[in-house]
Amino acid sequence: MLKKTKDAGTMKKIVLAYSGGLDTSCAVRWLKERGYEVICFVADLGQGLGEGEDFGQIKERAIAAGALKVYIKDLQEEFIEDFIIPALKANAIYEGKYLLATALGRPLIAKYLVDIAHKENAHAVAHGCTGKGNDQVRFEVTVGILDPKLEIIAPVREWEFKSREEEMEYAALYDIPIDVTKKKPYSIDRNIWGISIEAGVLEDLDKEPPEDAYLITKGPTSSASYPKYIEVSFEKGVPKKIDGRAYKLKELIMELNSVGGLHGVGRSDAVENRLVGIKSREVYEAPAATIIYTAHKELESLVLDRELAHFKEEVSLKYSELVYYGLWYAPLKSALDSFVAYTQRHVTGTVRLKLSKGMCVVAGRKSPYSLYKKELSTYGKEDKFNQKLAKGFIEIWGMPYRR
Ligand code: ARG
Repeated sequence: MLKKTKDAGTMKKIVLAYSGGLDTSCAVRWLKERGYEVICFVADLGQGLGEGEDFGQIKERAIAAGALKVYIKDLQEEFIEDFIIPALKANAIYEGKYLLATALGRPLIAKYLVDIAHKENAHAVAHGCTGKGNDQVRFEVTVGILDPKLEIIAPVREWEFKSREEEMEYAALYDIPIDVTKKKPYSIDRNIWGISIEAGVLEDLDKEPPEDAYLITKGPTSSASYPKYIEVSFEKGVPKKIDGRAYKLKELIMELNSVGGLHGVGRSDAVENRLVGIKSREVYEAPAATIIYTAHKELESLVLDRELAHFKEEVSLKYSELVYYGLWYAPLKSALDSFVAYTQRHVTGTVRLKLSKGMCVVAGRKSPYSLYKKELSTYGKEDKFNQKLAKGFIEIWGMPYRR
């Protein structure tokens, strides 16, 4: 049986990354018992889009759990401009399946933890991650880069609770208003760029994810029965229009999430190598990200020359690792950003995509900077390619290999 304990005569200040869930709510109280004044920080990265996350309720819960103060910040614009767009330009994708929605959000949240700590004169920050995941690494490495003097506390790694039930008992003891009736079948992290779904029945690798694991994409039986064509237009690597109509980035992403979701686009199911050395089963939904990546890569195939395109693929791979590994603020990432930015000068044009039953396939592409020259590639009579030159080219090209 749990017993109430007294607060340890205050007061050091700590800023906690707060989600409103069971773990971080218990963490508020747990930190308070250890002598901290807890300031909660809730980052709005678009996790409530669609369902309308109730930030008012989250704030009340934080206060009920014992928080002194709650910051709620809408960081969606910054998330899109400074994190999503650079990763898109780099075509960063981890192990071929993960468009990095969760991984991209963490350094931004950590940056604000540090900012708020400075503003509030707090000497410590905290997060609700477990000791087995990547997110703890991303938070802590970022905080360490931005202010190495800040102490970092990870209550979930330290506390005595061994199960969700024990945490619920603790929450009940302190009247922290958590909806305990709902048994959560999965661990979910969501933002505007995508959803990461883990745990529960997904831990059986040999089983297909059940339909109830997916939140925003329709399955094959319920997705739209007709194919849908859409055109996405880019300027210098940044998506600007859908079907010729200009959108702000946030609205563009929301629109593609909804159209893509309706057609079942953007699901992936991965056995992933975590940074901490374990393999884990991850299910992702990222309709807008999938559509935008597909279109962006296609446009690059048109406007980048061969050497640049091939080298950029190597950069993509490295970039995805840096994001996944929590190294967003490492010098190499900044250096790669400069390279990637240069490659986007001509990534302007329009890609037509066909969305149908989970597929997102290219149906057309055009760009004013296209390097495709029909008079060179055609087999028709307009052919301008001097085939006679090929003989000499091949002779010299193959020369080093002849004995
Ligand atoms: N495996 C993904 C990553 O490391 C998703 C993590 C999801 N986090 C969560 N709390 N469910 O980025």
